[in-house]
Amino acid sequence: ELRKEFARLEELFTVNTEMLKKITRRFGEELEQGLREDRQNIPMNLTWVTSLPTGHEKGTFLTLDLGGTNLRVCLITLDTPGQPDVVQQKYKLSEHLKTGSADELFDFMADSLQVFLEQHPHQTKQWDKESPLPLGFTFSYPATQERIDHGVLQTWTKGWDVKDVEGHDVAEMLRKAIQKRDLPIKLFALVNDTTGALIASAYNDPETIIGAIFGTGCNAAYMEKQKNIPKMARYPSAAGNSKTKSNTTGNPETDRGDNGAELMAINCEYGAFDNSHSVLPRTRYDELIDEESPRPGEQTFEKMSAGLYLGEIFRLVLVELRDRGVIFQKNGSPAGRASRGEVNGSKVPTQGLDDAYALDTEFLSLVENDESPNLIESCNVFEAHLHHADLPTIPISPSREELLFFRRIAQLIAIRGARLCACGVSAICQRLGVDKGHVAADGSVAIKHPHFKTRWEKAVAEILDIEYGRIALTSAEDGSGIGAAVIAALTLKSDGSNN
Ligand code: BG6
Ligand code: GLC
Repeated sequence: ELRKEFARLEELFTVNTEMLKKITRRFGEELEQGLREDRQNIPMNLTWVTSLPTGHEKGTFLTLDLGGTNLRVCLITLDTPGQPDVVQQKYKLSEHLKTGSADELFDFMADSLQVFLEQHPHQTKQWDKESPLPLGFTFSYPATQERIDHGVLQTWTKGWDVKDVEGHDVAEMLRKAIQKRDLPIKLFALVNDTTGALIASAYNDPETIIGAIFGTGCNAAYMEKQKNIPKMARYPSAAGNSKTKSNTTGNPETDRGDNGAELMAINCEYGAFDNSHSVLPRTRYDELIDEESPRPGEQTFEKMSAGLYLGEIFRLVLVELRDRGVIFQKNGSPAGRASRGEVNGSKVPTQGLDDAYALDTEFLSLVENDESPNLIESCNVFEAHLHHADLPTIPISPSREELLFFRRIAQLIAIRGARLCACGVSAICQRLGVDKGHVAADGSVAIKHPHFKTRWEKAVAEILDIEYGRIALTSAEDGSGIGAAVIAALTLKSDGSNN
């Protein structure tokens, strides 16, 4: 029976080359629409980052990075080209902060900045209210920017739901929280994590073409020629807007690949691809995730491919199989375990299989990559994480056949995710007419999932009909912070200020 179930799931989750190409074509159309007009499905947000770094940017900057799982404060010194010095403090973001009030969130961020200054007096004492420490704010959510130090949140993504922030300028909200504490800090730039990854990588690696995040969410940023962005005409003050200084000299020998054209980094926000459900092969599990999410109908692409959702897709498959009596019927039953005397002394699992998001991508990855004899590690994580419905002290204990079956399902879900992720980047490559270069990636899936890189690069090669590895995934781990510092440096340069 498990074999039959696997065949059914394999068909559901497999995305062949032809389908990948079809998705990528549609992706290209939606990217184009977003560049033409505001309020399209993929927003293609202007970032006001108008140049790539030379690698010679200098200065000391504070960065605050609000990601999907962590808040990070960094003090970054750009001194030796290509070798930033980073002092960092990481704080885990609680579920409460992700869905609570705006004041709590912005107070938490400003408090973290204050604590950081207090904990690093020697490195930060030279800044005061007259000459404040320049801050780059990495905000990993979609924002409409009219200037580089401004950003109106379009919609929360990745399960966040903090009240009264959508439609407001988050840079201003942070500024106010900083002012309340009278901190010697001035916000210069608001940066998406993808733009941060792009610029941080370009700071070191001239082959960088795209900055991408494959983490809790998925998204990418790249440099677009301004003449290919028709909607820029709607920004009458574009010419005088605060933005980064253009490094272009008009000399193709010295310009970084743009031949003197005016550029603009675009934060695609392509997690929103195909919200009209015209091309993605959605399963019942994808539909369920969407229906139960705080923003149904949004982020269709992200909900099928990003780290926040992969474990949840896996859980939904297991729930369905259990409800149909296919799995967890025999040796996982309470009677089976109790009769083997295994319940006493074992760790009481914290969540039931019916608890939404009980299984994360780490769990999925562990199940898929378990090399231990008899899959003992997977068995242990099931027992440690999951209890039977309504029986909180009885861990779920799958049989060996079930574990083998789960491993193959975990693989199907992870492969589908990686292959879909290849479509967004391939569509950008097609737009740019490039078939070679580095995609600088950060995020838990790209960095921690052992097979992601190979699967993704293979799918990109299939879509673009190129040799495997010509478009290569490179690591921009922790790049967003450095990127925000480099962007703040570029902004200061264009302001004529120095620090
Ligand atoms: C980090 C960035 O390095 O990567 C974050 O600084 C970003 O802002 C993150 O969101 C992606 O990681 P995660 O937590 O979504 O896997
Ligand atoms: C979500 C956010 C986007 C971010 C991405 C990766 O898609 O909307 O801004 O870049 O996650 O963190």
